[in-house]
Parts: sequence; C-alpha cells; structure tokens
Amino acid sequence: MEIGVREAEAEDWTTISTVIEKAFGKEEGPELVELVAALQKDETAQPLWALVAEAQGGIVGHVLFTSTRLKPEIVGERSAITAPLSVDPKCQRQGIGGRLIAHALEPLRQDGVQLVFVLGGPADYSRNGFVSAGVHGFEAHYPVPETCADA
Ligand SMILES: CC(C)(COP(=O)(O)OP(=O)(O)OC[C@H]1O[C@@H](n2cnc3c(N)ncnc32)[C@H](O)[C@@H]1OP(=O)(O)O)[C@@H](O)C(=O)NCCC(=O)NCCS
Repeated sequence: MEIGVREAEAEDWTTISTVIEKAFGKEEGPELVELVAALQKDETAQPLWALVAEAQGGIVGHVLFTSTRLKPEIVGERSAITAPLSVDPKCQRQGIGGRLIAHALEPLRQDGVQLVFVLGGPADYSRNGFVSAGVHGFEAHYPVPETCADA
C-alpha cells in the first residue's frame, strides 16, 4: 500500500474526526475529537503541527503536536506534546503511525522545538525514539494513567 504524509488542511477536518473516532472507538473517540477541536482553537497550544497519512486516495491517519510549556520556564526552550495519534484500524500495523511521528519531528525541529513529549506507554513509544520523561526529571502537571507510569 502506498502511503503519503502531508500537512493537514482545514478542509480535512471531517475526515480526520472520523479517523480519530474509528481509532479510539465509540467511548473515547468523541472525547478525543472534542479535544483536538479545542486544541486547534486554544491560543496557548499554538503553534501546532498536524499531519495526515493518505492511502488509496483517502486519509487513514492523523497526528497532532501542540506547543507546551515547561515549568520552571527555560529561556529559549521550545517544546511540544503529541495529542493524539490515530490510524484507521483497517490500516494499522503497517508502519503508518511510525511514519506520522517520524515525518512530524523534522518540521518541529526546524521550528526550534527541542523537546517533544508523548503520553503513552514507554514500550510503545521507544521504537519511535522516545525515552521515559522521568529519566530526565520531567513530571506531568496532570495525573498520568497507571499504564503510562514513568512515561
Ligand atoms: C497506536 C496507533 C496510532 C499505531 O498505529 P500503527 O499505524 O498501527 O503503528 P505502526 O504500524 O507504526 O506500529 C504498530 C505496530 O505495527 C508494527 N508494524 C509496523 N509496520 C509493520 C508491518 N509492515 N507489518 C507488520 N507489523 C508492522 C510495529 O512494529 C508495531 O509493532 P508492536 O505493536 O509490536 O510495537 C494505532 O494503533 C491507533 O490509532 N490506536 C488507537 C489510538 C491510540 O491508542 N493512539 C495512541 C495514543 S495517542
């Protein structure tokens, strides 16, 4: 299957929300769609980076990175957080999720982002180059689910 990755456009939103709902399921899906919609309007989350993966003429994956802040603030330090990453269940386990992350990291780097956070199991994300934030002394300012402890 040929997969293309490009920046998300405003007119992709309806299809993106369908992909998010399919990926996260009936319970979590609508909540995540709402979160992404809210983040797109949230001034404190700007700038944001959104990519889509296309296959067979349609969008099958989406990833959003938003700006985040460190406390205490480190002058000149820019950081971002992944929220969320979604791949249509019909197209999972073909490397699309990994490609979306890999493609996004370069534009982030070019925009001066030095740190990228992700809330997820360390085992799942280590293959994409992430390490446990605890190793570097970072702590999330919100409760982290047990499954993502030390993420
Ligand atoms: C998590 C998620 C985005 C991963 O997407 P994906 O496209 O399946 O990701 P990848 O294909 O890059 O990697 C997934 C697995 O497939 C494997 N894989 C990658 N390419 C493969 C291929 N060609 N053939 C077989 N397996 C492959 C990877 O090694 C990885 O293996 P693992 O499960 O043993 O670690 C997707 O499962 C999803 O949308 N889940 C629901 C939402 C979610 O939980 N999002 C993450 C939190 S924000």
